[in-house]
Amino acid sequence: MASLRLGDIAPDFTAETSQGNIHFHEWLGDSWGVLFSHPADFTPVCTTELGTVANYFPEFEKRNTKVLALSVDGLASHKEWIKDIEETQNVTLQYPIIADENRAVATLYDMIHPNANETFTVRSVFIIGPDKKIKLMLTYPASTGRNFDELLRVIDSLQLTANYSVATPANWKDGQDVVIAPAIKDEDIPAKFPKGFTKIKYYLRTTPQPNK
Ligand code: BEZ
Repeated sequence: MASLRLGDIAPDFTAETSQGNIHFHEWLGDSWGVLFSHPADFTPVCTTELGTVANYFPEFEKRNTKVLALSVDGLASHKEWIKDIEETQNVTLQYPIIADENRAVATLYDMIHPNANETFTVRSVFIIGPDKKIKLMLTYPASTGRNFDELLRVIDSLQLTANYSVATPANWKDGQDVVIAPAIKDEDIPAKFPKGFTKIKYYLRTTPQPNK
């Protein structure tokens, strides 16, 4: 299968998870989704990542975003590991972990990079829109825990783009000015962006964040 690219439909699958069987597209429904892989159960960095996502769960919920983890170990292993995560990270895990023992989902999403490791997944992240299209793909090495503030930031940016004709500049943070899409003509800006705009160059026009 050709590798996945932004804009592709996220491959659908059925999988066993720590919260029962999931049919991915049906499970996503109209929500946004984050699918993220873990090299293996009972590994230190993954344990902190899963705890962090449990702590951030309300933030994902606020953004109408479901989270789904994946690790290439079995269900019995996941259930034991979840006890450790809850104990050491002081959380309750509210979201499912796929038990991808046969690596079916990992293969579908190209999460195993054999030159990095033949059996374990790298740390992949996919953000999927309500249209089931892939909006972001990130690949981290096994030894680097991901920055979940950055994932929330990207979701905020994607949702602004989906709801308003704006993009977000470098290092943008929620609440800061955004960039008006080049397709919008100057004369159409007042109706679309009543908070006003600053024209720095004909192609670089900023406006206060529309949903604040
Ligand atoms: C970890 O999750 O802690 C980890 C996994 C594979 C290699 C290094 C760290």
